[in-house]
Amino acid sequence: MSTATSPIESVLVENRVFPPPADFAAKARISGMAQYQALCDEAERDYEGYWARLARENVQWTKPFTQVLDQSNPPFYKWFADGELNASANCLDKHMGTPVENKTAIIFEADGGEVTKVTYKELLARVSQFANALKARGVQKGDRVLIYMPMTIEGVVAMQACARIGATHSVVFGGFSAKAVQERIVDVGATAVITANYQMRGGKELPLKAIVDDAIALGSCEAIKTIFVYERTATACNMVEGRDLSFAQALAGQATECEAVPVNAEHPLFILYTSGSTGKPKGVQHATGGYVLWAKQTFEWTFDAKDSDVFWCTADIGWITGHSYVAYGPLAAGATQIVFEGVPTFPNAGRFWQMIERHKCSIFYTAPTAIRSLIKAAESDESVHPKNWDLSSLRLLGSVGEPINPEAWMWYYKNIGKEKCPIVDTFWQTENGGHMITPLPGATPLVPGSCTLPLPGIAAAIVDEAGNEIPNGSGGILVVKKPWPSMIRNIWGDPERFKKSYFPEELKGYYLAGDGAVRSEDRGYFRITGRIDDVLNVSGHRMGTMEIESALVAKTDLVAEAAVVGRPDDLTGEAICAFVVLKRGKPTGEEAKQIAAELRNWVAKEIGPIAKPKDIRFGDNLPKTRSGKIMRRLLRSLAKGEAITQDTSTLENPAILDQLSEVN
Ligand code: WTA
Repeated sequence: MSTATSPIESVLVENRVFPPPADFAAKARISGMAQYQALCDEAERDYEGYWARLARENVQWTKPFTQVLDQSNPPFYKWFADGELNASANCLDKHMGTPVENKTAIIFEADGGEVTKVTYKELLARVSQFANALKARGVQKGDRVLIYMPMTIEGVVAMQACARIGATHSVVFGGFSAKAVQERIVDVGATAVITANYQMRGGKELPLKAIVDDAIALGSCEAIKTIFVYERTATACNMVEGRDLSFAQALAGQATECEAVPVNAEHPLFILYTSGSTGKPKGVQHATGGYVLWAKQTFEWTFDAKDSDVFWCTADIGWITGHSYVAYGPLAAGATQIVFEGVPTFPNAGRFWQMIERHKCSIFYTAPTAIRSLIKAAESDESVHPKNWDLSSLRLLGSVGEPINPEAWMWYYKNIGKEKCPIVDTFWQTENGGHMITPLPGATPLVPGSCTLPLPGIAAAIVDEAGNEIPNGSGGILVVKKPWPSMIRNIWGDPERFKKSYFPEELKGYYLAGDGAVRSEDRGYFRITGRIDDVLNVSGHRMGTMEIESALVAKTDLVAEAAVVGRPDDLTGEAICAFVVLKRGKPTGEEAKQIAAELRNWVAKEIGPIAKPKDIRFGDNLPKTRSGKIMRRLLRSLAKGEAITQDTSTLENPAILDQLSEVN
């Protein structure tokens, strides 16, 4: 395993500590470290009892469970396996007849600034009506439905409606290509697609339905019987008679009541594709019971959610963060949340700050990349500096998706939180279902750049390659030693890959996160040092290097061979750097530039624009050992622009290194 270099290496020793403000701690759900420790002790004393208690307190069961953890067939763990529930009922029906029913569930702000609000009662009616529309087209419990929607209330409605009837959803981020959509339709075995005619981003109308059409045209999608099309804009799109239904058509005549179908706790609530170090993206399968429990509990603990809060998670529903902290967690907790369709830089880079002021947002949760790009914008243009807006409604800030460098942390703390809002740096993954290692804002003293301590019951540890725990201060492999309720259950259709990827034999059956980490000597705080596998994290988006390589070599008329590595980037955390050997030999000058542009567009078409390599370098060959193995270590140094200090004596073709130093 190689150790990826983290962009935050400039600050290896961080001495600043920010204890929770006294008034914040006084009112917090988990107030002070003693209370945190008491929960950890409870989990330590009686692991199953602890989780059973949380499951009873956080989830409404239509049939109570009697078993807690079933570990008869590791690593295929089951939680609350004889219990039954419905995820949508836990987010909506539960609030009816309580003061929450007339509370605003979602404040939706469209790309162009129009605001729409729905209460819990209205949301339940819309979800129920759409669930009836799904049923009318034959969608039923156990079916898989692919969702390819913009950030809208309807996106959340689509997910909740699937959950309501026991259909398993698979949301695909609206930035992915037709090819990516087709591969997921086929892999997940979807029988219906929910999409929109267009999406609005940064003032532009971008097609969604046309991409679904292209996906279907790629073949093997015969199982798709219905495509539901939300009319996001007034522009018409291609509609296939008999197969495609607009939302207006689908909803016409459907009742606004629909009974939630109870499912087994282990029933797959959703399958979300994410990148791994080998092969195609994997369908991460989550169960219903454990997931709902942890989405709600972590929402309440990590964000110290109060009835009066206005929560805003800027993540798209196409990512796990948008699942747990837009579509499920806040709703299960009865919170008011903001859903935003657009981008942080439109109409200008003050958009987030303006929206916080406008909607009196009190808890703001975003990604380090967004913060870094807004710092850059604010520093070059006074008019979009956050000081121009009233951010006094904020009481808590959050960060997710990638390591936050202490410089960005401090800026966020000072300029957005005005030195009074704690920052929760939440470490977790698609596979985890919810937060794993994070500060609790009323308890944990904060250290910039550190996600601090595991949540109570999460047995996170740092081990060596044999699975032995290593002392604080030394870097190692991040693992979780015990199963937890919201963990991944399987890779859809590939149990062998599931076992191999996450529970390698040499690690004693521990869950392997795929990240490197180190614990501080003084407090035992975790700091994530980056992926230890061939997965890149670009702007908080996971990309497999192999996936991008496969896309490049699929351009068979041009490309003979390709290797992709990451390099640190000030803005995006990591940037994609591709080393390419063309069939026609190494191009130079204008031709090289033009082919590089062509390859970037090709990758955008194969995977999506987020996978476009930032750097493309050409050579007559790649640096290889005599046995033909590509020396990625050297490529990583080249990508960073470092002098090669490694031993190159095993290299078959040392001259190639000079060629590959040139960026196009
Ligand atoms: C990285 C996103 C450092 C990590 C929720 C992980 C982080 C991958 C943090 C998962 C954090 C996420 N600090 N690194 N607070 N949060 N990561 O599946 O490398 O899209 O393995 O889930 O993002 O990305 P995923």
